[in-house]
Amino acid sequence: MANSAALLHSLLSTAWTPRRRLDRASATRLAPSPGLSCRSSRPTRSVRPMASSTTAARADAAPPGLKEGIAGLYDESSGLWESIWGEHMHHGFYDSGEAASMSDHRRAQIRMIEEALAFAAVPDDPTNKPKTIVDVGYGIGGSSRYLANKYGAQCSGITLSPVQAERGNALAAVQGLSDKASFQVADALEQPFPDGQFDLVWSMESGEHMPNKQKFVSELARVAAPGATIIIVTWCHRNLAPSEDSLKPDELNLLKKICDAYYLPDWCSPSDYVKIAESLSLEDIKTADWSENVAPFWPAVIQSALTWKGLTSLLRSGWKTIKGALVMPLMIQGYKKGLIKFSIITCRKPQAAIEGEPEAASPSVE
Ligand SMILES: C[S@@+](CC[C@H](N)C(=O)[O-])C[C@H]1O[C@@H](n2cnc3c(N)ncnc32)[C@H](O)[C@@H]1O
Repeated sequence: MANSAALLHSLLSTAWTPRRRLDRASATRLAPSPGLSCRSSRPTRSVRPMASSTTAARADAAPPGLKEGIAGLYDESSGLWESIWGEHMHHGFYDSGEAASMSDHRRAQIRMIEEALAFAAVPDDPTNKPKTIVDVGYGIGGSSRYLANKYGAQCSGITLSPVQAERGNALAAVQGLSDKASFQVADALEQPFPDGQFDLVWSMESGEHMPNKQKFVSELARVAAPGATIIIVTWCHRNLAPSEDSLKPDELNLLKKICDAYYLPDWCSPSDYVKIAESLSLEDIKTADWSENVAPFWPAVIQSALTWKGLTSLLRSGWKTIKGALVMPLMIQGYKKGLIKFSIITCRKPQAAIEGEPEAASPSVE
């Protein structure tokens, strides 16, 4: 174990030295997801983000092994993450240039939730605050329990990982929230909920796992109640310039390596998300690039991985988690190049749906 830990330390610190000044947008995650090819698209032409792909565009065409891989990854890595970082499996939100200690990081993760709610202008007055919430890709339910507490709302979460489902429910019981927050294994692309059920539809860093972004947003819109707010915080690639048909070859190459190593499906741009939301007649569509605001987070994750506890836990956790840690430098490169963007996209389902207007969420835009 000591030799392996030393080797891992050497690989991690060679690739990513914490003392080295990192680009402000150097955000990534320890945990990879199951691998596919990466393609780019021209956002002005099609909402199918990865253009010619036959697999990325169809709801029933998730690449073989993708869901199982994601489930396996989070089954394997969630315990390690919780033991070091706690119940929130998402980035912190920081002021630009902020230097942060470990306790600041935990606060920054809560701040990420609050910033997303504020950006989307979710009401918190007793009449209009959300009373029903779905947390799509909930990790171990940190956001769900926070939102259930904040609003006194009923919160339902879905994940692909059975280990996360069990842990989410156990934490809800420990925190006295079993009647408010419940978690189950289910696919975000085929949610086990009726139409129009939730006042707030929440997806914090799960969209990047979805092989079909259009189906993903369609499902978010389908389960949203008329007038409900939809919040997506996710990794994107940069928007293409009007003169561009695709990302540059070196960018495509970098994304491909990240996809291969992290087992990620095709990415899309913030513009692609906006076009999908528009195609579904969603309203008040807003987006922002928060790459600068998450910059301090991943250097801190690397530092925590380079401690004795981090290294030995990593070694015990399994190959998928180790592979994710070793590939982090490629993500840093992506942020340095301005290729990878930490993005928020918010919108609202029209009230019109309850007044006999056409249904907002249509299954396809092409
Ligand atoms: C990085 S974690 C996000 C955790 C959580 N939202 C948080 O903020 O703590 C990504 C989550 O997305 C879930 N996920 C990925 N693909 C999914 C899918 N197709 N359906 C449901 N959940 C999915 C994973 O199981 C995992 O729980």
